[in-house]
Amino acid sequence: MTDNNHRTALVTGANKGIGLQIVRQLAEAGVSVRLGARDAARGQAAVGMLAAEGLKVGFIQLDICDAQSIAAAAARIAAEQDSLDILVNNAGIVVAGDAAPSTVALDVVRRSLETNFIGALAVSQAMLPLLRRSAAGRIVNISSSLGSLALNGDPSYSGYEVRLAGYNASKAALNMLTVQLRAELRDTAITVVSVCPGLTKTDLNGHMGDRLPEQGAAAPVRLALRPQDDSIGIFQDENGVLPW
Ligand SMILES: NC(=O)c1ccc[n+]([C@@H]2O[C@H](COP(=O)([O-])OP(=O)(O)OC[C@H]3O[C@@H](n4cnc5c(N)ncnc54)[C@H](OP(=O)(O)O)[C@@H]3O)[C@@H](O)[C@H]2O)c1
Repeated sequence: MTDNNHRTALVTGANKGIGLQIVRQLAEAGVSVRLGARDAARGQAAVGMLAAEGLKVGFIQLDICDAQSIAAAAARIAAEQDSLDILVNNAGIVVAGDAAPSTVALDVVRRSLETNFIGALAVSQAMLPLLRRSAAGRIVNISSSLGSLALNGDPSYSGYEVRLAGYNASKAALNMLTVQLRAELRDTAITVVSVCPGLTKTDLNGHMGDRLPEQGAAAPVRLALRPQDDSIGIFQDENGVLPW
């Protein structure tokens, strides 16, 4: 996995925020990247911005909650390349009104799961035939420490008071996808990981924290490019392994 110039990647939800920076850093590393975005104008604008910096990146329309969009994206990629080496399931949302479990509206939880878990599952399923043809496939699920069951119950955790029942449950479910798919694919050349970018200033959280999106992208990109070996942790951030 050292010759990035022959590697290909797809990043979902990549027209802005951490996803856009993941695309930029993968492209800078020599990977041939497709920038996925549900809105063609926003996606093309992001591709144009990178092109102006000298980074050639492909655009692909991809709404991770739309089965037709996912199928069309998979078909187009399959028509244009033999395999896919890296899938970054980055697209994610915090639904307005997300709240503590005693009061949260059930629809808020449903919509959170629909994007953050089912969307990532659907894209993974659609891209698996291409990933299976890679000599060293990698699925990087952009999770959060807020999805850690252990940390949610630990009063010393910085996010202990963050009661987003929908978002946190959706990231815990995404972590389950990581564990299950990784185990299911253990005899293949594909490794699946969950990575937390850390609290990063983006639209998702109203620009909280002091980390820039390029810093949030660093750990996911490292995990995406890291050579295949058994020591790759399943759930980690830039400081190492996170508890489930
Ligand atoms: N920021 C943080 O502190 C933080 C911490 C931990 C984990 N994360 C995770 O990092 C990932 C990226 O978040 P971010 O902070 O960069 O947020 P962001 O700036 O709001 O970007 C989210 C991206 O996801 C896209 N998206 C949402 N729903 C989609 C759908 N159905 N199909 C395709 N794309 C969709 C958005 O597209 P539109 O522009 O069209 O809405 C946007 O491009 C998320 O999974 C998030 O949960 C973020």
